[in-house]
Amino acid sequence: MRRIVIAVTGSTGAVYGVRLLQICREIPDIETHLVVSSGAEATLRIETKLKPSELESLATRSYGEYDFEAPIASGSFETSGMIVAPCSMKTLSSIATGFENNLVSRAASVHLKERRRLVLLTRETPLNLIHIRNMLQVTEAGGIIMPPLPPLYFELNDFSRMVDLTAGRVLGMLGIDTKHRLEWGVD
Ligand SMILES: Cc1cc2nc3c(=O)[nH]c(=O)nc-3n(C[C@H](O)[C@H](O)[C@H](O)COP(=O)(O)O)c2cc1C
Repeated sequence: MRRIVIAVTGSTGAVYGVRLLQICREIPDIETHLVVSSGAEATLRIETKLKPSELESLATRSYGEYDFEAPIASGSFETSGMIVAPCSMKTLSSIATGFENNLVSRAASVHLKERRRLVLLTRETPLNLIHIRNMLQVTEAGGIIMPPLPPLYFELNDFSRMVDLTAGRVLGMLGIDTKHRLEWGVD
């Protein structure tokens, strides 16, 4: 089994976390390990009508925001990587400074120290200098900043497909192939 850690935090774009979990459920050898921040409760409710418990039911295992005894808090628990989707500027800041104030930030720090893939779907606009500096800091530490910008190369008017293509692309970064991928020049 391949394990991936998914964290959902309180920026707009909760749907990205939801679709990542749903897509991973369709892949037999993927285990998802989920942590949802308390900040995500509002965005989940407003944007998806889901309660955190309903989101958690999509994951293989889920952990409380402050459960520092969770396996994903330790580097000894091997994973194929971690995705924070969406990633708020608060969580970005915590990861960039190594604050490790909750399990999201702790697990992200573990992925950086173990030199594993860490992809942050950072979502804020416009960005201030502090946001940009925090993104630079995470990038220099080995993380990948991937704002979930909808793919607009084609005449897409289907928002769900845009979300799925972003989800497919980020899973691809962890070596997980899905049908939700676009390759330029390939039909
Ligand atoms: C509806 C809603 C939308 C929000 N959108 C964003 C956003 O796009 N980006 C962001 O950084 N914070 C956003 N926030 C603020 C975060 O939720 C807030 O900073 C929170 O403390 C983040 O905590 P967390 O990172 O632990 O989830 C939003 C809050 C609400 C209620």
